[in-house]
Amino acid sequence: MKNDLLLRALKGEKLERPPVWMMRQAGRYLPDYMKLKEKYSFFERCRQPELSAAITLQPVDQVGVDAAIIFSDILVVPQAMGLEVQMVEGRGPYLPDPIQQDKDLERLRIPDVDESLGYVFDALRLTKQMLNGRAPLIGFAGSPWTLLCYMVQGKGSKTFDEAKAFCFTQPQTAHRLLQMITDATIAYLKGQVRAGADVVQLFDSWGGLLSPADFEEFSLQYMRQILHALKGETLTVLFAKGAWFALEQMSETGADALGIDWCITPKIARQFAGNRITLQGNFDPARLLGPIPAIQKGVKDMIDAFGTERYIANLGHGILPNVPVDHARAFVDAVKNYSRVAQ
Ligand code: CP3
Repeated sequence: MKNDLLLRALKGEKLERPPVWMMRQAGRYLPDYMKLKEKYSFFERCRQPELSAAITLQPVDQVGVDAAIIFSDILVVPQAMGLEVQMVEGRGPYLPDPIQQDKDLERLRIPDVDESLGYVFDALRLTKQMLNGRAPLIGFAGSPWTLLCYMVQGKGSKTFDEAKAFCFTQPQTAHRLLQMITDATIAYLKGQVRAGADVVQLFDSWGGLLSPADFEEFSLQYMRQILHALKGETLTVLFAKGAWFALEQMSETGADALGIDWCITPKIARQFAGNRITLQGNFDPARLLGPIPAIQKGVKDMIDAFGTERYIANLGHGILPNVPVDHARAFVDAVKNYSRVAQ
C-alpha cells in the first residue's frame, strides 16, 4: 500500500500528518459525478460495479483524499431484505411500503448477501484493483437504528417521529426488526471485508435523535454486536451523529475510531472518548461554502485542537452538494500542508 496513513492512524501509530477524507466525498459537488448522474439512475450507479468503482475513484484522483469510500448507499440493505426503496430526484429516499406492525416483518428476509448484495462486493473488488494501493478502501453500512428510521418512516425526516413512535409503542417488534437488520449487516460487512475493504464505517446518522437511554436500547447495543463480530477481521469506525453523550460508551465497543460531528469541541470529545481511541472529524460541512482562507484557518485550528496523533481529518457529516470543488480541495490540501508547517 503506497498510502496507508488511514490504516496507521486507526492503529494509533505516530504519523507525519493526519490522513484526510470526507464523508460523502463521491457525489454531487463533482462535475464528473453529475455527468454520470445524467445517464444512469441512482441505483444503476450503485449496481454496476464499473460505475460504482469509477465514482469511488473520482475524489481520490480529483480532490486528493487519502482514502476511497465505496460508492453505494446505506439503503441497499433494506432493499436486500425485501423492501422497495426509490431515490426520488430532489427529495431523497422513498419507501412506498414501510414497516408499520409486527406482520410487516413477514415481508422481510435476512438476505443471502452474496446473492442480493454481490454487486457491492464486485464493486469493491474492482475498485481495489483500480486503486492499486494508492489509498485504503473503506466499506460501510448504516446502523440498525438509522436503517429502521427509513424502513418505518418511509422517507427522510428531521425528527423521525414515526420511527420513534414505532419503537415506543411496539418495542418488541422494533427489537425483532433491529436484530434482523443487525444479522444482515454483520453478514454484509464481513462480505465487504472479504471483497477487499480495508476499513468499515458504521453510519448512525440519526443516533443523536435518541435520548441517552433510548440510544443505548435502540441503537448502541446493536452496533456493539456488529463491532464485536468484526473485531480482529478489519479496522472499524463508528460514527453516530449527535450522540456526543455516548462517546465514552462508544469508546468501549471495540471500534478503532469514533466519528465526531461539529457540535462538540475536540477537547471535550477527547475527554469523553479517552486517549486510547482515534477520533475522526469534525469540520462543519457548511464551512466549505466560506472563503478558502477561512477554510485553511479552520483546518489549522481543528488539527491544533485534535493533535496529529490518533486523529483522522474529516468533515463532521457529509459534504454538501453545493460546495465548490476547489473549496473541497483547499480543505484536503490544508490538512496535507499542516504537516509541512509542523515539521
Ligand atoms: O461517502 C461516499 O462518498 C460514499 C457514498 C455514500 C452515499 N450515501 C451516496 C449517495 C454514502 C457513504 C452514503 C451513506 C448514506 N446514505 C447515509 C449515511 C451518511 C449520512 O449522510 O448520514 C444516509 C443517511 C443515506 C441515505 C441517503 N442516500 C439520503 C438521505 C440520500 C438523499 C439525500 C442526499 O444527500 O442526496 C441519499 C442519496 C445519495 N447517496 C446520494 C449519494 C451520492 C445523492 C443521490 C444522487 O446523486 O442523486
